[in-house]
Amino acid sequence: MVMATEKILVVGACGQIGVELTLQLRKMYGGSAVIASDLREEHPMLKGTGPYISMDIMNKETFHVLVLRYNITQVYLLAAILSATGEKNPHLAWTLNMGSLLNVLEVAREEKLHKVYWPSSIAVFGPNSPKQDTPQHTIMEPTTVYGVSKLAGERWCEYFNHRFGVDVRSLRYPGLISYKSAPGGGTTDYAIEIYHEALATQKYECFLSEKTYLPMMYMPDAIRSTIELMEADASRISVRSSYNLGGMSFSPKEIGASIQKHIPSFELSYNPDFRQQIADSWPSSIDDGAAREDWGWKPAYDLDRMTEDMLKNLAAEVD
Ligand SMILES: NC(=O)c1ccc[n+]([C@@H]2O[C@H](COP(=O)([O-])OP(=O)(O)OC[C@H]3O[C@@H](n4cnc5c(N)ncnc54)[C@H](O)[C@@H]3O)[C@@H](O)[C@H]2O)c1
Repeated sequence: MVMATEKILVVGACGQIGVELTLQLRKMYGGSAVIASDLREEHPMLKGTGPYISMDIMNKETFHVLVLRYNITQVYLLAAILSATGEKNPHLAWTLNMGSLLNVLEVAREEKLHKVYWPSSIAVFGPNSPKQDTPQHTIMEPTTVYGVSKLAGERWCEYFNHRFGVDVRSLRYPGLISYKSAPGGGTTDYAIEIYHEALATQKYECFLSEKTYLPMMYMPDAIRSTIELMEADASRISVRSSYNLGGMSFSPKEIGASIQKHIPSFELSYNPDFRQQIADSWPSSIDDGAAREDWGWKPAYDLDRMTEDMLKNLAAEVD
């Protein structure tokens, strides 16, 4: 366990990433040093592991009071509206994704918080960005409101770092695959649903076409990358907008084939919907050289290793 005087607040702790990140931070810092908060009711997996507070991050005053009352030194901001849900309500996506970040950055500046973490996404790239091995610095031009909000957020993070010295750190997560907590409305959610359906019904109708390659990552790698970035010495963080982060890249057809190695009767069909257009505007693979060089990033999971772990853990839940 890290012996420190850090007091951490996780905002959006009941979401797909929040639950696992909160549990990992509590393992490292101790349960009482990590306060979980969300709009929703406390997630069952968090119950009994540490303090939980119901909070709307859009209310800056409530957030500010909470930071002072609990002597918070670090904030992990995970509250957001994701890509597919964002397209259904663009104004709300912009308001929440931008408003929450500005509230956190402003309080971090005023109260001299030690560190802030805020995730960006591969959605910052657009149809004019290079598709293969998309570089850290390149043409961006996102076409979804989610991507626009993430790109603007990255600029704000860099601005608060350069202008006010706020130690804010960020990763451009690829699509994240996990079995512990449900996904929150992203374009890559198919890669989670497919495992559930493979076990339940041995068939799945995919909302993306068979050759849609997207950058993806298994949740244990995502949690480890986040902790490694946040634990790195500040002198090693040269990118203050957001780091490209690579894990693996695969198509629906390839994940289907990986599942068939364990469930030979699994059948996959395709019926692309509005999310195909979002996926088509994103990179198919990511160059994460800057993260590897600066703070030593290295993913551990490939597609087959992830499939084996997902199926094993989901099957255990069903039993
Ligand atoms: N999951 C992915 O594949 C993925 C990929 C790239 C980036 N990200 C980013 O990572 C972050 C977390 O994503 P996630 O998948 O865990 O999302 P999620 O939707 O599963 O979780 C977000 C949580 O925020 C909470 N929330 C929403 N509005 C709030 C508010 N006003 N105040 C307090 N809490 C509020 C929600 O109740 C939810 O529990 C987001 O910034 C997202 O854009 C996720």
